[in-house]
Amino acid sequence: MSKPVHILIVGAGAVGCFYASKLHQTHSERQILVSLVCRSNYAAIAANGVSLQTHSFGDYHFTPHKVFSSIPEAGEAGIDWDYVVVTTKALPDVTNDAHDIRPVVKRGVEGSCIVLIQNGVGIEEVHRVAYGENPIVSAVTVISAEQIKHGVIKQNRWTRITMGTYTNGQAKPNSLLSDSALLSKLTSTTDTHIKNLVAWFSATGIKDAEFSPELSLQQTRWHKLCINASMNPSSVLSGGTTNSRMALDPELRTHLRACMDEIFLTAPKILGIEFDEKKHASPERILKSTERNTSGKPSMLLDWQAGRPMELEVILGNPLRIARRDGWEMPRLQTLYALLKMAQVRKREDAEGAKAKL
Ligand SMILES: NC(=O)c1ccc[n+]([C@@H]2O[C@H](COP(=O)([O-])OP(=O)(O)OC[C@H]3O[C@@H](n4cnc5c(N)ncnc54)[C@H](OP(=O)(O)O)[C@@H]3O)[C@@H](O)[C@H]2O)c1
Repeated sequence: MSKPVHILIVGAGAVGCFYASKLHQTHSERQILVSLVCRSNYAAIAANGVSLQTHSFGDYHFTPHKVFSSIPEAGEAGIDWDYVVVTTKALPDVTNDAHDIRPVVKRGVEGSCIVLIQNGVGIEEVHRVAYGENPIVSAVTVISAEQIKHGVIKQNRWTRITMGTYTNGQAKPNSLLSDSALLSKLTSTTDTHIKNLVAWFSATGIKDAEFSPELSLQQTRWHKLCINASMNPSSVLSGGTTNSRMALDPELRTHLRACMDEIFLTAPKILGIEFDEKKHASPERILKSTERNTSGKPSMLLDWQAGRPMELEVILGNPLRIARRDGWEMPRLQTLYALLKMAQVRKREDAEGAKAKL
């Protein structure tokens, strides 16, 4: 048997534990060993592993190869991590993921492959700056999963994971990565990593694991913003309204559609490619299917209600900044960003004020 592949999941929450459980496997020729870096759920997972209640695969149990209580601890385990999969919430205003994973990343084109399964746009740049030569996979997932208690993951609906190479976001030399020989080497190395990941996911029954070229992966990220950047903030700002109710309310529907129209207009100018009607649902189609989706609350609303930081920067701040770099404005999204950012600051100040009075 050839030497095992070691995968480290940083952020053992809903997405991290679900995909970890599907990647951990033994083939006749090779073992894929998945380990987890946990935080608040460390004691539960170290003692009992992970229980999964899934829509797609029934109920099952997953015992990780190793469980760590921190990233530095995983860095001291004496293991060369072939894949470092980041599945934390993307919160660049709170943490610097690229800096935090330093202890577990083996540098270089042949070193660790960094896989980012997180929402938003512009999340890869800090990793490219920190790891000039490492392969980076940018992954977008559609999955409705939650950690219902420490170490127990519930997956509510079908899943899709689309993975693309990330060299510099444009797949041609730019100021982030200008060396065309390195760019081409990174593209082929990362493409091979993605083909491996697709094969491993498919082997455990994930049918919708797919490879995407670099630019179309970025386009998928922007398309996903149509839902996340319009509905998530609007849900919070309208006092906790569900997506389906917003889609059925005439004034809010007009607002959501206008937000999505901004993205449909701006993303093609940034990426230089048009949305494809067959692959990318139009704003009207998104709204129609949202009317029927009465399940659950948007993740940003859940974070707001629990007093946790929201993924505001990667869902609103980054798109606005990236568009501005090219001279474009998205005024509806800018309004949502300005209001929600200040609401978050005020909420934190109020909480600190209340604590100080105790
Ligand atoms: N859940 C979904 O259905 C879904 C769907 C599509 C996309 N996504 C995206 O996927 C990403 C992950 O979401 P999620 O729902 O899986 O979030 P989650 O359940 O909150 O999981 C994130 C996990 O990362 C841990 N973590 C954060 N920083 C860490 C650190 N420095 N070291 C170790 N662990 C750390 C958190 O620990 P603590 O609990 O201690 O904070 C938590 O267990 C997000 O970008 C989200 O938008 C989620």
